[in-house]
Parts: sequence; C-alpha cells; structure tokens
Amino acid sequence: MLRGRLDDRFGTARLDGLNLGPRELRSFRRVKILGCGSAYYVGQIGAQLIEELARMPADAEAASEFRYRNPVIEPDTLYVAVSQSGETADTAFAVREVKRKGGQVVGLVNVVGSTIARECDGGIYLHAGPEIAVASTKALTHMAIGFAMLALVLGRVRDLSITDGQRIVAGLKELPGQIEQVLAGEPRIAEIAAELAAARSLFFIGRVRAFPVAREGAQKFKEVTYRHAEAYQASELKHGPLALIDEELPTVAIVPDDELTDRNLGAIEQIRARSGRLVVITHPDVPQCEGQRITVPKNERELDPVLLVIPIQLMAYHAARCLGRDIDKPRNLAKSVTVE
Ligand code: F6R
Repeated sequence: MLRGRLDDRFGTARLDGLNLGPRELRSFRRVKILGCGSAYYVGQIGAQLIEELARMPADAEAASEFRYRNPVIEPDTLYVAVSQSGETADTAFAVREVKRKGGQVVGLVNVVGSTIARECDGGIYLHAGPEIAVASTKALTHMAIGFAMLALVLGRVRDLSITDGQRIVAGLKELPGQIEQVLAGEPRIAEIAAELAAARSLFFIGRVRAFPVAREGAQKFKEVTYRHAEAYQASELKHGPLALIDEELPTVAIVPDDELTDRNLGAIEQIRARSGRLVVITHPDVPQCEGQRITVPKNERELDPVLLVIPIQLMAYHAARCLGRDIDKPRNLAKSVTVE
C-alpha cells in the first residue's frame, strides 16, 4: 500500500492513478466520500483526515442513501467512492449518479478491475490482498491509509507545510511496525473479549477522530457476535444514552492521547458513577482511569484511528469465538452486496 507511494523529500504522496495534476487538485473546494457499512465508517475517518490536513470541508455519506435523495452534484467537489470489493451495488449506483450529473469521482478500491474501479475517473488501489472473510478487516486499515495519502496530496497543494507533510509521511512509515505491536497484544484482548461476550448489549463511544472507530467497533461486534452494540459520540452520552448505563451494559471507550483526552475521561467518570463496566482503548500516556485498559502505540494524532481500530476488530473476533459463532461467514450476510 505504502511502497513507492511516499515522498519524503516533499512531504507528500505519489498517487498517479488519481489522474489529477496539482492544478486540478487545487480546484476542488470540497470532498464527499461515499461507501457502505464499514467502508462508510472509514470514509468518516478519511473526511476527518482531509479536513485536518488539507483544511477542505469533507464529509462521508452512506452510498446506499445518496442517490435516493437526488443529490446536488457540484463541479468543484471531489467525490471519492470507497469499497473493498468494488462490486457493492449501492456504491456503484452512487458513482453513476455522480457521473451522470457531470461530477468527478475517484475510487479507493481493493479489487483490481472491479466495477467501481472501472467506472471511476481514477483512483487508488488498496493492494490489501484478497479478503476472504465476510467482515472487512485488513482492507479497512488500507482504506484509512489511502485516505491519509489522499489528504496529504490535497494538503500539500494547499496550506499543509512541508514539515507537517514530512511529519505525516514519517507517521505512515511507522504504522506497519506499530500494527505488529497491537497484534502482539492479542491474548489480553481475547481475555477482555471473553468477558464482553456475556453482555447482551454494549456501547462503543468515541469523539471526533475516534467516533468512526467506535462505529466500526459496534458494527463488527454485532456482525460477528449477533449481540446488540451501539456507537455514540462520547459527547452525546448525557443527551440520552446515559439512561441505559448500569452494571449490565458495558462500554468500550476509545480514548486517544489528544486534545480531547480530558473530555473523554470526563465521560468515563460519568459511566463509572453509574456502575457501568468499562473497557478503555487508549495510548500509554493517558492517565490511568477506571476500567480494563488496552493500549496501542501513539502515532501522529491524525493517524491514530488506523491503530485504534485494530483492537476493536480483534475484540469482536474473540467474543464471537467464545460464543461459537461462524466468524468468517456470519449469518444473513454476504461478502459482496451486489444487489440493492
Ligand atoms: C463490515 C462489512 C461491510 C462492508 C460493506 C461494503 O464488516 O464488511 O459493512 O464494509 O458491505 O463493502 P465493500 O467495501 O466491498 O464495498
């Protein structure tokens, strides 16, 4: 994924497949990301990366909804379709809707030569290798890294300094080693997952960069364990969901070491005060707080979601194993959703 694509000297990435030169890249004023399910949640991580690094308004939308609302397609918006299989019908229809109305759309796709890859004007292949299990895992990490590179490219034709670009390039290079470290922590994650498997319902909470991570956590957990799991912005707890917290409902809180740590610790305090069980996925320098703790290595704050997403996927996997579920082929789901 990263090989040959990072440019240390200029603090940027080389994404020739986009078929967009610096002048065209500069002409976009907005980015709209379209994907389904977990690809949509990674799209939210991508939108955050683009807003932070390129300072362009960016958002992600479920491709399955997009074309039904007769969307306004703007010539100065870069549309990005994101898909592992490249065959998801809802995402492919969204691509056609953009193109039919004259918009420009690029793809972040894993399967080479797939429908979405062919129909987009250009794109970034993820090179994650074949993904066999129904639930998407490694492709998601690759998508997040793909968005980081796209954000770099968009940022470096705008106001992202060469130093900040180099900081992100260095962070991207650290990721493979750090992912190994997260994977080495699997036995502890499995222990915690075994306890979570007993709960009938769970919350996953995070805010800003960590909220899409929480959404992906809830999605994977329900998909492979068949337990109810729901994601909330940590900031929204007091606006409703706190009413559900008691000793029966555990919360998995994503608490990165960043400018929002103190606020996240405040939310944890509120859960603890209501006897809620907590699992905290965090960084080594975050002060000890209530609950069982899983730490991942710290990277640049913009790239943290790439590493935070891995333990929550492992957690879903091990909880499903404890429950004797068919993890590779969860009930009612298909790998490639080629129908609407
Ligand atoms: C979740 C999952 C699905 C897919 C979604 C999009 O684990 O696998 O939510 O992410 O169906 O699939 P692709 O990426 O192939 O378009």
